[in-house]
Amino acid sequence: MSYDLKLKDKVAIITGGGQGMGRAIALTLGGTGMHVVVADKNSTTAEQVAGEVRALGVQALPMHVDVTDQLATERMVQTTLERFGQIDVLVNNAGFITWKKFADLTPEEWQLNIDVNLNGVFYCTRATIGHMIQRRAGRIINISSDSAKVGEAGTGAYAAAKAGVMTLTKVLARELGRYDITVNAICPGMVDTPMAAGTPLGQLSPEKRAQMIKLSFPLGRVAQPQDIADTVLFLASDGAKYITGQAISVDGGYVTA
Ligand SMILES: NC(=O)c1ccc[n+]([C@@H]2O[C@H](COP(=O)([O-])OP(=O)(O)OC[C@H]3O[C@@H](n4cnc5c(N)ncnc54)[C@H](O)[C@@H]3O)[C@@H](O)[C@H]2O)c1
Repeated sequence: MSYDLKLKDKVAIITGGGQGMGRAIALTLGGTGMHVVVADKNSTTAEQVAGEVRALGVQALPMHVDVTDQLATERMVQTTLERFGQIDVLVNNAGFITWKKFADLTPEEWQLNIDVNLNGVFYCTRATIGHMIQRRAGRIINISSDSAKVGEAGTGAYAAAKAGVMTLTKVLARELGRYDITVNAICPGMVDTPMAAGTPLGQLSPEKRAQMIKLSFPLGRVAQPQDIADTVLFLASDGAKYITGQAISVDGGYVTA
């Protein structure tokens, strides 16, 4: 029996698509025959990734978008609809972290973490759902974080924003289910990307790091971006049509409850 993901010629917007997980998600969805909008505040990397996606034989549109800019997110949706006529999947992936103890966090750092990680999800989702409601179809996939479940020390502003994303995911699932729109969150633990290189774990000596990873992750390794992209692929696919309102940890067993 062959299995049809039912993704061919569908259209996805991926925020923060220019590197790390976003790049892996763009290439993975493109590999199924989807057309992809690579939205990133870094237009150079967005263009590079869009080129890589195009090489897979599908259409890809790079877009310079800062998700903290509401007008820019509205333009992103408008331009996508003008080019492709539909949006089937929105992946809210753009993210930013300040690693600092709460006592040392400045109000500006707090605000920036909330702006990128929470308000960005609000703006992009708000700009997209009118179209999805009209079509009575859509998938929204929010990249949250295990830090929202665990409350990792040093991630106060970031984890609070990611917890907001998790709760918003549940609210949206309830509000949008009647339109056949599913809304889910993925909570990565530690993923091997440029963001992770700046974390305390990323700065340990190779020996200490290997030891910490063995202790913390039952599967004995941190995630590769592809591990997250594979879960996005599943949530976007027809196989996940009855899953909504969930916050799925993809973390090698780091969080088990
Ligand atoms: N790497 C990890 O260990 C880890 C763990 C849990 C959750 N996450 C989350 O996964 C997502 C992807 O993270 P990553 O590790 O690939 O990060 P990354 O830093 O490697 O890439 C993030 C991308 O988002 C873009 N971006 C940042 N701010 C933006 C903005 N305001 N508007 C538009 N684009 C913006 C960056 O330019 C970059 O291309 C993020 O939401 C992050 O919080 C990462």
